[in-house]
Amino acid sequence: MKKTIFSGIQPSGTITLGNYIGALKQFVELQEDYNCYFCIVDEHAITVQQDRLELRKNIRSLAALYVAVGLDPSKATLFIQSEVPAHAQAGWMLQCVAYIGELERMTQFKDKSAGKEAVSAGLLTYPPLMAADILLYGTDLVPVGEDQKQHLELTRDLAERFNKKYNDIFTIPEVRIPKEGARIMSLQEPTKKMSKSDPNQKSFITLLDSPKQIEKKIKSAVTDSDGVVKFDKQNKPGVSNLLSIYSALEGIPVAELEAQFEGKGYGDFKQAVADVVVKHLAPVQKRYNELIDSEELDRILDEGAEKARFTASKTLKKMENAMGLGRKRK
Ligand code: TYM
Repeated sequence: MKKTIFSGIQPSGTITLGNYIGALKQFVELQEDYNCYFCIVDEHAITVQQDRLELRKNIRSLAALYVAVGLDPSKATLFIQSEVPAHAQAGWMLQCVAYIGELERMTQFKDKSAGKEAVSAGLLTYPPLMAADILLYGTDLVPVGEDQKQHLELTRDLAERFNKKYNDIFTIPEVRIPKEGARIMSLQEPTKKMSKSDPNQKSFITLLDSPKQIEKKIKSAVTDSDGVVKFDKQNKPGVSNLLSIYSALEGIPVAELEAQFEGKGYGDFKQAVADVVVKHLAPVQKRYNELIDSEELDRILDEGAEKARFTASKTLKKMENAMGLGRKRK
């Protein structure tokens, strides 16, 4: 039997080249060999306040992008988290298994709450919801970028704890992080992760940026004054980041790229990186435009939600039985 994969992306703004390289690209490669669930995790997005119309738009847009990058609804189940109520239900149950101390130790929580006065409780209890997403499907493997590694470790801990305290019902999932491009950096501050919530628009490329915008952003990417195209994360984070982007997109090892650009300046190099990004995004954007207002997209999401509900409700029932919720039913 095929092994199961689950992963999700937040619809909080148009997703970036970082999301694409770190997550989506892996999804497309893996759908051939695994039983896949790819989710639009809208309930995670509301841990910080969202404009309701924007959120609705971003959910649909992310769904269209899932299909546009090459996820095939006949192979992978594509769905919206809030349309499968078992996620919130199992999320609550796992919150009751998680300890406040371990949630407070999550670096993402510390980063997002630092210096803020009004921090939502959801920001703290978000990892048990993420664990619920994963565990409801009997997931074996979770493809994510490097920043989600700690959440995955917590998911494994919660699953093991539940299995020991209640009943042995959860599969313990493994994390899968890509070799190249697991952490794409900001174009403006290359020691920081590229993020769709960065207020500086020049720091990230979205999957819907025009070729002109892409070229402009890459040309103004912060590098160094060395003039040598060489991978050195410590001393040349900007150039290293551009090399990672090129390498991940084209599947060419970094060492080969260094040789290819030997003796060439940053101008030529940046132009080549921009060309590669534009080449990869052009067909995605074309398909996106066909899908975004289509009934086909609604059909895909309706079918996805139905399939996901079927599997998730079975696990939820097992969880309820293990914890003794409700009445005993077959
Ligand atoms: P999110 O929405 O922040 O990011 C989605 C995916 O993109 C990866 N990623 C990156 N990879 C490389 N470089 C970057 N700069 C970069 N930025 C983001 C992330 O690692 C992630 O794989 N909590 C998750 C969503 C989630 C989830 C899940 C993931 C909810 N439930 C269950 C897996 C399984 C999140 O906020 O990802």
